[in-house]
Amino acid sequence: MLLAIHISCVVITIVGFNLRVVWTFAQSRHLQRKWVKIVPHVVDTILLLSAIGLMLEIAQYPVVDDWLSAKVVGLVVYILLGIISLRGPSRSVRAIAWLGANIAFFYIVSVALTHEVDVGLLF
Ligand code: HEM
Repeated sequence: MLLAIHISCVVITIVGFNLRVVWTFAQSRHLQRKWVKIVPHVVDTILLLSAIGLMLEIAQYPVVDDWLSAKVVGLVVYILLGIISLRGPSRSVRAIAWLGANIAFFYIVSVALTHEVDVGLLF
């Protein structure tokens, strides 16, 4: 159940993030909508709460277990690059950050699937 919630939030967060970046590039009015500002925070909060729940369930923790440390580091990189993608000073900076944020995201997914920090194992 927790895993299903976690994975649902994973899918919603990456689709929503990419949509918001596209809207930023297109200077779309959608960005001003109230739900567009609120929903990402709700989804990301549920994503983190489910992550904590899963951690407790399998009794593995960041710092102790390398793959979970890698997920947390990957998450921080994803968030920072995500902020730059949406608020960066120029289109080129935002585009590079956007690419980097997606790479960080898929690194996190590969770590989640393999429980290994080495991304090469997935490919
Ligand atoms: C954007 C951030 C995240 C993404 C994309 C993500 C992705 C995933 C995916 C795809 C799975 C399912 C793996 C499978 O089916 O075997 C998963 C499971 C899990 N995630 Fe995350 N996750 C994220 C954040 C986190 C964080 C921050 C933590 C905790 C530090 C965490 C802890 C876990 C745990 C404990 C599992 C269960 C693993 C298992 O039972 O084998 N996740 N995550």
